[in-house]
Amino acid sequence: MSARILSGKDIAKEIRKELKEEIAELKDKHDVVPGLAVALVGEDPASQVYVGAKVKTCEKLGVNSIEERLPADTSEADLLALIDEWNEDPKVHGILVQLPLPKHIDEQKVLLAIRPDKDVDGFHPMNVGKMLIGEPDFLPCTPHGCQQILMRSGIETEGKHVVVVGRSNIVGKPVAAILVQKAKGANATVTICHTRTKDMASFTRQADILIAAAGVPKVIKADMIKEGCVVIDVGVHRIGKTESGKDKLCGDVDFDDVKEKASAITPVPGGVGPMTITMLMMNTVRSAKMRLDK
Ligand SMILES: NC(=O)c1ccc[n+]([C@@H]2O[C@H](COP(=O)([O-])OP(=O)(O)OC[C@H]3O[C@@H](n4cnc5c(N)ncnc54)[C@H](OP(=O)(O)O)[C@@H]3O)[C@@H](O)[C@H]2O)c1
Repeated sequence: MSARILSGKDIAKEIRKELKEEIAELKDKHDVVPGLAVALVGEDPASQVYVGAKVKTCEKLGVNSIEERLPADTSEADLLALIDEWNEDPKVHGILVQLPLPKHIDEQKVLLAIRPDKDVDGFHPMNVGKMLIGEPDFLPCTPHGCQQILMRSGIETEGKHVVVVGRSNIVGKPVAAILVQKAKGANATVTICHTRTKDMASFTRQADILIAAAGVPKVIKADMIKEGCVVIDVGVHRIGKTESGKDKLCGDVDFDDVKEKASAITPVPGGVGPMTITMLMMNTVRSAKMRLDK
């Protein structure tokens, strides 16, 4: 039997509709427009596409976007000064610095400079710590998107064995930290696999829910999962062009192979990808609301 397709695209649409209403209410009741400031240093083509998509989503939802495209030779001091300016600007509720940064800029120093209450990417150590102790202000966008797909598709995580393939700071570790919490949409038993894991398939085959975030195209095959597993594919890889000239994408999961054995699966594209920007918007709206309480 072929797996149920978990459309992140449809879930993202549903969340954006809810956010639009919240944004309208913020304007009507409090005269507040959530603002997101985005800095892009250099001309990395993928980063340009991501920043363009973020700005476009802001416009669609009624979030005020401030975009700063800086030359690749921008100094670390100049970038830090810009962040400082945004830290103090009351119209800015969220600050995002598109990664990766050019080599002469210390990424960690830049992330630390963003005020934690404006850190809508959730990468500041203060927010990572809050996530870990189960009192988050901002959850990192892609891992939060994975959780939302599960919750909004009615897939129970409580007591389930979730196996995460990948331990990066932006996907693998945080998605594991989110799903292990004593909380709604979590309460899972979590195993994390990585390149030093011995006999990885012996773990993935135990998964009720498998989250693939290895960054390796089609590394997860049908013989690595058990029958009826729910598969969330975070990977995105460009593997050529379609006939109409669009980028052809695949994930970390061999979709055609795995979909015959899984009970549910996210596609690539149209799965986790559309959720990431949506969760960024959710964090920006949350930041604007948190400010009201101060
Ligand atoms: N859809 C979205 O919005 C979105 C957002 C972020 C990332 N992504 C995609 O998600 C994927 C993962 O991203 P990332 O930033 O987490 O990647 P990353 O920083 O390269 O981390 C990959 C992780 O997977 C592990 N790994 C690599 N190959 C493996 C293998 N064969 N078996 C087991 N573990 C393996 C690595 O282990 P070690 O630690 O031992 O090296 C590492 O921990 C990428 O394809 C990326 O493009 C998508």
